[in-house]
Amino acid sequence: MISVSHVSVLSRDDGAAILTDVSVELDGSSTAVIGRNGSGKSTFARLLNGLQMPTDGTVTINGHSTATALKAVRRQVGFVFQNPDLQLVFPTVVEDMGFGLRNQGLSADEIDRRVLAALENYGLTHLQHHATHSLSGGEKQQVAVAGVLVMSPDIVVCDEPTTLLDLPNTRLINRLLLSLTQQLIVVTHDLELAASCARVIWFDQGRIAFYGDAETGVRQYLASVG
Ligand SMILES: Nc1ncnc2c1ncn2[C@@H]1O[C@H](COP(=O)(O)OP(=O)(O)O)[C@@H](O)[C@H]1O
Ligand SMILES: [Mg+2]
Repeated sequence: MISVSHVSVLSRDDGAAILTDVSVELDGSSTAVIGRNGSGKSTFARLLNGLQMPTDGTVTINGHSTATALKAVRRQVGFVFQNPDLQLVFPTVVEDMGFGLRNQGLSADEIDRRVLAALENYGLTHLQHHATHSLSGGEKQQVAVAGVLVMSPDIVVCDEPTTLLDLPNTRLINRLLLSLTQQLIVVTHDLELAASCARVIWFDQGRIAFYGDAETGVRQYLASVG
């Protein structure tokens, strides 16, 4: 359960309101976050794993506050960035996938076992010895998602994971995301993906304009854009 309670975020630069009194509870259902550029979507997503702290209010993940239990939060919330080049930092796919697990102090055998199982699970075994820099954009984003999932998070947050991809790769990543058993929160301009989620949160100027059934939210958003 994600609980965002009366959260406001002010800009450190000029004190401008980025998010204003945002309250929402998200259960296990998949949720798309939509809205115009600059409406606060990324700021909201970053609140969920403590990459961004609220100026006011609280964010708790399964009862753990991002302000007081950041480590517990980060164990439960995996974050996928828009640009996989920023997420993939090791020379080969297996090394990259094992990075977070090495930080957890697991044995080399256990790390190998988990990484190979994750690669197998997401149909990526053939890429295991490839150089990360040589992968296509779609392959990079698949490996970045798999690298988050290998950490066994309860919740996966993605900020525009397909913005840099072509249509076939967008479809591939969308299918992967929608098939996850973990709770998914995905910031996206892809309204087909948004409508395929269970819920939609629509942000408008730092406030929630709509939260509820995804197809209804997408329809209202489209009508508002004109
Ligand atoms: N760290 C920051 N400092 C100052 N302003 C910011 C910061 N992050 C975001 N903003 C501003 O807050 C608003 C919302 O940004 P963001 O959450 O990135 O929106 P979105 O992801 O919907 O495009 C924008 O006007 C942006 O310029
Ligand atoms: Mg954004």
